[in-house]
Amino acid sequence: MKIAATLCLLLASTEAYYFYSLGDWGGSSDSSPTTQVEKNNAAGMVRAAHGLDASKPEFALLVGDNFYSAGIAGNEYSKRFTQTFENVFDISNPELNTPFYAIAGNHDHGGNVTAQIAYSKHSSRWTYDDYWYTKSHTDNGITTQVVMIDTVTIAGMAYKNDSTGEIHSNEPHPMQARLASQLQWLEDTLKSSTADYLWVVGHYPVYSQCEHGPTGAIIRNVLPLMSKYEASGYIAGHDHCSGYYFDDNMAFVIAGAGKECCYSPDNLNNKADPGEPWFRMDKGKNQGDGGGFASYHVNATGTQIRFHKASTGEVQYEPPVIKPRAKRSMLVEQAA
Ligand SMILES: *[C@@H]1O[C@H](CO)[C@@H](O)[C@H](O)[C@H]1NC(C)=O
Ligand SMILES: *[C@@H]1O[C@H](CO)[C@@H](O)[C@H](O)[C@H]1NC(C)=O
Ligand SMILES: *[C@@H]1O[C@H](CO)[C@@H](O)[C@H](O)[C@H]1NC(C)=O
Repeated sequence: MKIAATLCLLLASTEAYYFYSLGDWGGSSDSSPTTQVEKNNAAGMVRAAHGLDASKPEFALLVGDNFYSAGIAGNEYSKRFTQTFENVFDISNPELNTPFYAIAGNHDHGGNVTAQIAYSKHSSRWTYDDYWYTKSHTDNGITTQVVMIDTVTIAGMAYKNDSTGEIHSNEPHPMQARLASQLQWLEDTLKSSTADYLWVVGHYPVYSQCEHGPTGAIIRNVLPLMSKYEASGYIAGHDHCSGYYFDDNMAFVIAGAGKECCYSPDNLNNKADPGEPWFRMDKGKNQGDGGGFASYHVNATGTQIRFHKASTGEVQYEPPVIKPRAKRSMLVEQAA
């Protein structure tokens, strides 16, 4: 009995799982529904799985700009779901046979987001429950919760005019009428969370060194709630770069080089960011093989974030481990 119990504990303490995040991955246009970098990222996610603990991720986060250049033009039967998602993240790879939790980016809001939500019924993997929703995964008593938010509802539309290169931000969008109800839901969700690791996931970043830069409306509306309820961090895309910040006991990940790499680091000195990023992949640095995604390896000790190159899945950067929320407040209490 004793030996069995000890063995059980040993097994439990080494038990781990992981998930991926990828943003800004959805092809180029209806006539060019994939890009080479998008395909490279899918190949990298297959390869990286073999360096991680289990044969496949528990889930993958698609953090928006799922369908360039203007979202889904038709309805849930649009060819883009097969062309841009199913064919590229090919289910015949066991490493990719996992739920993909989607959320919309600004490009998606240029089209029919309801169609993206409705497509969940037709795919064994595509999962987009509503404009905002939450999912939890528990293994051996270790829970990761992801809180998927619609950032166009918070910050309006932003886009880069490809012919002029000009970046437009904060153009009004009808979804902004739902701002208060999303923020109330976000607060209720964060407040009631007992997860060991609690991530807010949205398209626009909190902080970014790249062309689009930090998002004022997310800093004002979302960051204070994350801080109040001790979130583990925020996972984003939007800038076609990778970036990592750690501030106020929270991690800030950008992995937005899903379909191309990379934008310029125009916001390296933006005072709204908490200094320079701890890691950056952009036009000025670490371009790797022109794409990238992030993985999150979870066990009772911590969540190890890793930034991967596309194609090879090779690790470019791993920041210090993120501690579980309960342990973190215990540390704060001990220090006080
Ligand atoms: C937890 O995972 C990290 C890597 O992410 C590893 O270094 C550590 O040994 C693991 N801890 C346990 C108890 O398995
Ligand atoms: C958007 O998609 C939904 C779900 O497929 C569909 O019912 C609706 O008609 C579509 N709207 C437009 C404008 O195509
Ligand atoms: C981009 O800028 C050009 C030139 O000013 C303009 O004609 C075009 O409408 C703009 N495109 C978008 C999508 O706003």
